[in-house]
Amino acid sequence: MLTGKTVLLGVTGSIAAYKIANLARMLIKRGSDVYVLMTQNAANFINPITFETLTKHKCLIDTFDRNFEYSVEHVALAKKADVVMIAPASANVIGKIANGIADDMLTTTVMACPCKKIVAPAMNHNMFHNPIVQDNIEKLKNYGYEIVEPSNGMLANGDMGDGRMPDEELLMEYIIKEIAYDKDMSGKKVLVTAGATMEAIDPVRYITNHSSGKMGFALARNAVLRGADVTLVMGKCDGEPPAFVKTVKVKSAAEMYNAVLCEADNADIIIKAAAVADYRPKTISLEKIKKNDNNMSIELERTDDILKKLGENKRKGQFICGFSMETENLVENSRKKLVSKNADMIAANNLKKDGAGFGTDTNIITLITSDKEIQLEKMTKDCAAEKIFDFILGR
Ligand SMILES: Cc1cc2nc3c(=O)[nH]c(=O)nc-3n(C[C@H](O)[C@H](O)[C@H](O)COP(=O)(O)O)c2cc1C
Repeated sequence: MLTGKTVLLGVTGSIAAYKIANLARMLIKRGSDVYVLMTQNAANFINPITFETLTKHKCLIDTFDRNFEYSVEHVALAKKADVVMIAPASANVIGKIANGIADDMLTTTVMACPCKKIVAPAMNHNMFHNPIVQDNIEKLKNYGYEIVEPSNGMLANGDMGDGRMPDEELLMEYIIKEIAYDKDMSGKKVLVTAGATMEAIDPVRYITNHSSGKMGFALARNAVLRGADVTLVMGKCDGEPPAFVKTVKVKSAAEMYNAVLCEADNADIIIKAAAVADYRPKTISLEKIKKNDNNMSIELERTDDILKKLGENKRKGQFICGFSMETENLVENSRKKLVSKNADMIAANNLKKDGAGFGTDTNIITLITSDKEIQLEKMTKDCAAEKIFDFILGR
């Protein structure tokens, strides 16, 4: 994913510096070439040897280091970089960069870098809210630096508040968003539904299905990394939704229906990957439930058909794709759906095949449009999401 990309990590004198060893490892695992620049003070928190061992490059601290075996000068490095991330960024280094000071290897290289710069402030709550620090952060934003908002929680000294640097996984997502993909979906608005809906039987029980939301998450993530503006309407899902997407959380099919219709008009591409429960309880005797009556029956009624409604309201230029789960006659049934729902594409998965459908990390999908039928191999849901958008964009 990051093969051929060069990432510069700038580490400053904060206790959060230890997290960057893991970030460097994660970036290298994804194929990128990583250089670490440290301030002199950062070396009090983590030893440069750690980064040198991980990155196989000299960890650069001193602008005037004359060790020619590893000679890398700041301008050459700045030209090579696809992205720079300063994390953790101390109040001091934020202040220096915002005010044009370049008095060490890190700040000098950052000043020479034409690529995108991402800054993850990490500091004590009071330091972070100091108006001088806030002004400096604003200044960096105005100069096009991207700021990773610190999270709220327990800080290194035990205080509660914001100023805490987010975990490596999120820092990694910022880097991936910047350099992993061409922004071929920039300007597009994408609406994705994910997960399972839940229909309450009573305050405790509900009807649902096995959808994990993984396919919808993969679609939302791929679109956002390609520059789209993504809204994810999510029912019951495993795990956290991808970063950078706007999420709308719902429970029942009716809630999902309303949320989707609210957002649909703005969307250029809509993908319904959620597994909506087809039925919901219509009448139920709470008395019988309380008495543990074995003869209890629940009368069901159909939930609203979200895909059909989207197809009815489809505006010119909008692309609608629905996922369908089939156990037999996959192509025939999907073609019927394509027509009856006025969709542009059905992404069909065969529930009888191993590695396809609910809960798995892989999928086996057939893309069906009015004039095409494309069988994708078994692949990760992330790869399948990429192929789906490639196809929609006509690539
Ligand atoms: C234990 C300890 C933890 C520190 N944590 C932070 C921090 O999280 N953020 C910060 O801005 N400064 C922190 N400091 C203060 C900085 O290290 C100090 O301002 C230093 O001059 C920053 O140098 P640098 O910006 O060149 O790396 C900490 C200092 C100590 C002793």
